[in-house]
Amino acid sequence: MQEVRLALIGFGNVAQGLVQILHQRGEQFARQYGIEFLITAITDRNRGSAFDPNGIPTASLLEAFQHPGGLRSLSNQAAEWDALEMIQHSPSDVVVEMSYTNLQDGEPATTYIAEALSRKKHVVTTNKGPIALRYEELASLAKMHGVQIGVEGTVMSGTPTLRVAREMLDGAGIRSIQGILNGTTNFILTQMECGKSYEEALAEAQRQGYAEADPTGDVEGYDAAAKVAILSRLALNAPVPYANIERRGISGLTAEDISSARAKGMRWKLIGSLEKKGDEVTATVRPELLPDEHPLASVSGATNAILYRTDLLGDVVIIGPGAGREQTGYAIIQDLFAIYNVRKG
Ligand code: HSE
Repeated sequence: MQEVRLALIGFGNVAQGLVQILHQRGEQFARQYGIEFLITAITDRNRGSAFDPNGIPTASLLEAFQHPGGLRSLSNQAAEWDALEMIQHSPSDVVVEMSYTNLQDGEPATTYIAEALSRKKHVVTTNKGPIALRYEELASLAKMHGVQIGVEGTVMSGTPTLRVAREMLDGAGIRSIQGILNGTTNFILTQMECGKSYEEALAEAQRQGYAEADPTGDVEGYDAAAKVAILSRLALNAPVPYANIERRGISGLTAEDISSARAKGMRWKLIGSLEKKGDEVTATVRPELLPDEHPLASVSGATNAILYRTDLLGDVVIIGPGAGREQTGYAIIQDLFAIYNVRKG
């Protein structure tokens, strides 16, 4: 049995999803694949830290999620570490970075990831900030230290997106990418088509937990632009800096725009797109009017979708969840399986 020790940064929704999956399926993974994931340390800037070299029971972590004291309620395992101290002192093979997204400079997550890689620990992250803004330096640090960095959950949560492009579509020649990459805005647009107001629809997206802490990131297209930057590097291998992506959100769309589009058999969607023309790549995020027969037009609610237009296969469309606790937690499992080469049969 291979034992993999995980140190977790962040004790929010994504961590909860990951812990839930390990709680429900950890034994099955051990049986089927001979691999056991132990959470040996976890830290959160507001909810305390915990440590147990033998693995903190997932049942205790699930109770701590519900407890007002958070990780401090785990009296046998409570620790005083902050994130950097945890990376430096905890026995761990992989640091799972799930702290908040900062699209200004990618901090503090970039510092945490760099510290972990420099200590020869693999990193898995769902955080868009460091990957959209600082991927090159982190990838070369990983290479220098002979470890890996898993980033699948940064785009479309656990719906296979980046690895599909890198490992399965590369030879097919991806010419362009179009995606509904933000669940909150797609949810708002769908609700507005059903007659809800923009304000009502946004409030509902916040209640459902899709929206970022500051929903400006969603509605003005910053979140989608971060994902376009990540796709440019990881799916197209033609990096476009985040700051160079032409971006417009959905806040300028009126109820009238949406209903008159419907009357013409069309729908407004917030589309992130990348298009290769020779050596040039154009990258945009903006509301686009799609005819009903377009492969992305019928994708509704918080669901995400991506259309890879390729030379050899034609169009490949992937539709699935783009946010959510277990959905994003599952992206971490995919990355862990890839790092440890877990395969059936
Ligand atoms: N706020 C994001 C969305 C979460 O609505 O898609 C997932 O990145």
